[in-house]
Amino acid sequence: MSNSGSVPDRNALTATLRDYVEQLREEGLEGLPAGVRVAREAPHIETPPTPRAEAPAPISSSPEPRPAPAAAEMFSKYPGLEKTSTLEELRAFIGDCQRCKLAPLRKNLVFGVGNPNAELMFIGEGPGADEDLKGEPFVGRAGQLLTDIIERGMALTRSDVYICNVIKCRPPENRNPEADEVAACEPFMLRQIEIVKPKVIVGLGTFAVQAVLKVKTPISKLRGRWHEVRGIRMMPTFHPAYLLRNPGDKRLVWADVQEVMKVLGIPIPRRSGA
Ligand code: URA
Repeated sequence: MSNSGSVPDRNALTATLRDYVEQLREEGLEGLPAGVRVAREAPHIETPPTPRAEAPAPISSSPEPRPAPAAAEMFSKYPGLEKTSTLEELRAFIGDCQRCKLAPLRKNLVFGVGNPNAELMFIGEGPGADEDLKGEPFVGRAGQLLTDIIERGMALTRSDVYICNVIKCRPPENRNPEADEVAACEPFMLRQIEIVKPKVIVGLGTFAVQAVLKVKTPISKLRGRWHEVRGIRMMPTFHPAYLLRNPGDKRLVWADVQEVMKVLGIPIPRRSGA
């Protein structure tokens, strides 16, 4: 049999395949041993088998551990912030915020909603157009999917949990929040965590998770494992807006949500899908 290609051709092909596999990993496909042939579409599985042992997995450290700024450092930015002890006090402290360049562009500051004593807190990126209009996080299409995860997946209600974002004002044209905007707003999100003191945080999407964990690792590598934020377990998972574009990855989010349910002692239905 003749050789079907020159060595450089084979090297180029190998590199292309490696890039492709890496791309699939970035998109969240797991369990790809080197050299395996993979299909682009993840199979749709209504109710995937629980992928891990029944006991909740231990907390793992982030691939690039970088400690979150100490509380004192965060709060020295806004003297008095550390004295706020309820969400109402924190909201009053934030007031008619003019601390960053997003302020003049917003219709409403989107603080957060839900149970101030929630065991479960969801943290997203920042408000979109619907949220800006209503002053409430996750009320648009992505929000409806989050609500489905909470209600249909976890058998909870939105008022059982607490929902907020890293930044409280909508970036124009739904662009990513910029570093100075995050720096200005982050102390408020950290104070929300300290006041609510949830048992578990679910970080929604690359931006929120990277901002909270202070890492640059892609969400596909962070999700599915426990991390820690100020002594609280955090499970990163894909953003609902990503799931609207990639419904095949709902199975991965469902696996992450099941880990959360185990820690919270919520029974996992034998057949369910968010
Ligand atoms: N996306 C987010 O990250 N947060 C919202 O509140 C809405 C959409």
